[in-house]
Amino acid sequence: MAYNRTLITAALPYANGPVHIGHLAGVYVPADIYARYLRLKGQKVLFVCGSDEHGVPVTIRARKEGVTTQQVVDRYHELIKRSFADFGVSFDIYSRTTSDIHHKFAADYFKAMYEAGQFIEETSEQFYDEATGHFLTDRNIRGECPRCHSLGAYGDQCEKCGATLSPDELINPYNAETGNPLTKKATKHWYLPLDQYQSWLEDWILNQHKEWRPNVYGQCKSWLDSGLKPRAVTRDLDWGIPVPLEGAEGKVLYVWFDAPIGYISNTIELCQAQPEKFGNWEQWWKQQDTRMLHFIGKDNIVFHCIVFPAMLKAQGYNLPDNVPSNEFLNLEGDKISTSRNWAVWLNEYLDDFPGKQDVLRYVLTANAPETKDNDFTWADFQARNNNELVAIYGNFVNRALVLTNKYFDGRVPACGELTEYDKEVIAQIANYKSQIENLLDAFRFRDALKEAMNLARIGNKYLADTEPWKLAKTDMERTATVLHLSLQIAANLAIAFEPFLPISSDKLRNMLQLDKTIGWDAIGRIDLLAEGHQLGEVSLLFEKIEDAAIQAQLDKLAHIKAENEAAAEAEALKNWRPEPVKELTNIDEFAKNDIRVATVLDCQPVKKSERLLQFTLDDGMGGRTILSGIAKSYPDPSVLIGKQVLFIANFPPRKMMGIESQGMILSAEDADGRLVLTTVSAPVKNGCQIG
Ligand code: MF3
Ligand code: ZN
Repeated sequence: MAYNRTLITAALPYANGPVHIGHLAGVYVPADIYARYLRLKGQKVLFVCGSDEHGVPVTIRARKEGVTTQQVVDRYHELIKRSFADFGVSFDIYSRTTSDIHHKFAADYFKAMYEAGQFIEETSEQFYDEATGHFLTDRNIRGECPRCHSLGAYGDQCEKCGATLSPDELINPYNAETGNPLTKKATKHWYLPLDQYQSWLEDWILNQHKEWRPNVYGQCKSWLDSGLKPRAVTRDLDWGIPVPLEGAEGKVLYVWFDAPIGYISNTIELCQAQPEKFGNWEQWWKQQDTRMLHFIGKDNIVFHCIVFPAMLKAQGYNLPDNVPSNEFLNLEGDKISTSRNWAVWLNEYLDDFPGKQDVLRYVLTANAPETKDNDFTWADFQARNNNELVAIYGNFVNRALVLTNKYFDGRVPACGELTEYDKEVIAQIANYKSQIENLLDAFRFRDALKEAMNLARIGNKYLADTEPWKLAKTDMERTATVLHLSLQIAANLAIAFEPFLPISSDKLRNMLQLDKTIGWDAIGRIDLLAEGHQLGEVSLLFEKIEDAAIQAQLDKLAHIKAENEAAAEAEALKNWRPEPVKELTNIDEFAKNDIRVATVLDCQPVKKSERLLQFTLDDGMGGRTILSGIAKSYPDPSVLIGKQVLFIANFPPRKMMGIESQGMILSAEDADGRLVLTTVSAPVKNGCQIG
């Protein structure tokens, strides 16, 4: 198929929080690299994104913050839009799904499918809160876990025992937000009958798109193998696009129905605003010579490969040619999480590292989670900047330019006779265009970037081998040739790195005063800068990142970790309740335990043990020593001296840390795990029995 233009979409981020490095590495950096690459090749590209402003996550955020949902999406839409722009993501449009154009277009899309008989209607019983008049989503239903009986299990999962649940299994289900008990109520919804698309999807994906990434192909295959079922495309919610049908009051389009349509509405918005530049929107969505690519994260695969294509197919739109999807990026060994604030937020990065957009782009691409989950660490961030960007690429370019200034007044010197080594280097450079291109065409961004860096390595090595700063003392003609070639390599680097590191490339182009019209196809050429061409002003392309800047980031994360642990503890306390009563026993069983009273004469921590305290007791029978694992609960054990405590006198003696413990002191375990010694309410004789 000969394509004449490419439509690139990047998953619309939820406007329920800022964008973080996981989003960037997974979606926006690769999509931007690809868009810039095609533009640099002179191709027609439209790169579309925007905020996903419907769905439950934004409403939860609003209720948590005590503001309206509209306020939440307004705030995060602006924040996300600005940080993408500051970061240099080259969207042609970044709009939003609360726009009038989108509301109208998505509602019309639904209506068109409805009128064409492309939905099925079904009524089912759903959980309902009479008091608020709301139906609930699985995640908003809580109750007692049918397995472990802990309270506060969610409608889809019990976090205590890990069981996967359905809301119907919960004992005494209640509304997670109001605490109100729930009843069942009948409600009607519209379903996309995916089962009717099964065989078409099987052929389209499994036969015709074997080239899709293994993670994408594999997920599709497993969905298809287990058999597609109809999926509801409407919800009982008050935030979203109203279902445009009679008798559908209080119902909205499911967020995963309207959001991908946002790609289309945003295209329409752009084409209406700039028709001379982008033409009419339908050519991007309906013309066969347009190639469509969806850049997404792996949790979006089913929606972009199965559900949305079925919707597109139903209405005669183009289908994606590829859906490059990444795995997840972790942060310092832990899953990135918006709700736990475990992330590097783009807006904060831009504040903390002004001017260093390309460093983050570099690190996220070099370590992109293309084939498996990867980990972002600040140590790796620093190392890649200092050892690769600064020490290789930056160092090479700087030496070539500074030496040209020094010996040739900033003018490109003449190329004299070439040595065998020069010819070898030139031959190597000639290969890079196709090498990088093949990798980019296969969406292998990490490897493509590696090749660009290898090109810089060649330049760096060329200077180290030829040592023009020494040559200049004896052979100015040879020096000229070496610097001439080095500057050509630098010009190659400005182009080859441009999709990956656009800000640095722009800077380098200026330093070289490289002709703006020179594009991707120039890679490999060594005639990009003519003899006598005047260079621009030289500055450092990259700067070293010091330990202090990295430490500040690590401290920030340590602080967040401590906050999360405290919050988890508070949550555990809130959900605590007494253990169920043990099975029946009797007085004879109980009487076998010889429980008595003793006074604490002394109490000391046991050396080398974090847990144990050593009690010296007056038990009324000559005294005894007992070790008890309660040290954490009593940082100052001396407070126990003089207290009368209860202990079991007839346990067999046991040695711990070289000390014999003669029995067990009784204590109560509080909800937070803290141990409290039991005592008697009035003084009694040591050695007297409990019963
Ligand atoms: N908001 C979704 C997410 O962050 C992605 C939506 S992609 C779209 O997972 F296609 F629906 F727009
Ligand atoms: Zn459970």
